[in-house]
Amino acid sequence: MNVPVLQTPRLILRPLSLDDAPAIQRHFNNWNIIQNLATVVPWPYPDDGAETFIRLELQAAATAEIYNWVLVLRSGDGEAIGNIRFRPGSDAPKGNRGFWLAEPYWNKGLMTEAVAAVNDFAFTTLGIESFYVCNAASNTASRRVKQKTGAEFVDHVEIPHHNGQSKRKNGK
Ligand SMILES: CC(C)(COP(=O)(O)OP(=O)(O)OC[C@H]1O[C@@H](n2cnc3c(N)ncnc32)[C@H](O)[C@@H]1OP(=O)(O)O)[C@@H](O)C(=O)NCCC(=O)NCCS
Repeated sequence: MNVPVLQTPRLILRPLSLDDAPAIQRHFNNWNIIQNLATVVPWPYPDDGAETFIRLELQAAATAEIYNWVLVLRSGDGEAIGNIRFRPGSDAPKGNRGFWLAEPYWNKGLMTEAVAAVNDFAFTTLGIESFYVCNAASNTASRRVKQKTGAEFVDHVEIPHHNGQSKRKNGK
């Protein structure tokens, strides 16, 4: 899978690699992040959780259309501070895109900026007309990112989340 580098004013989105495992392990192993995610993500988070995730993702991307970017601050030291996973061909009820950002960077508009770049890639470069995204009903921040980047509410779906129910939305 050829995952392109995407640029935003404050971020570089580059393809996920095994070298990102230590940074992802450090940032993602956080209940304030994982409580918002589906229970397919284990909690407590295993010590090798990030490395296992990356290995499985890279393996899956060899035979399926899966785009996995890590978010890197232009002004930072190059470490991954978040992740966006986009799987346009999947019909899974949990949607086609997932994201998280390290907690110290929340509420600065960074994920909105990153998602806008991924949407441009999906709708302009790939020519996709729409796709599904979803979040737990209680996840206001994730819903706001979706609202700010053009998603529209479609329906509720039942997905086991660590913390609450989910909503399903489609893309632009
Ligand atoms: C969801 C997440 C990626 C958002 O990243 P972010 O960079 O902080 O998002 P942004 O700053 O671009 O936008 C966040 C918006 O939510 C709003 N927000 C955040 N917490 C809120 C709350 N408790 N109540 C109301 N609004 C809230 C912010 O004010 C902002 O909206 P605004 O621009 O209208 O003010 C980040 O919170 C995260 O990683 N959460 C844990 C993992 C997760 O939930 N992933 C998504 C699973 S579907």
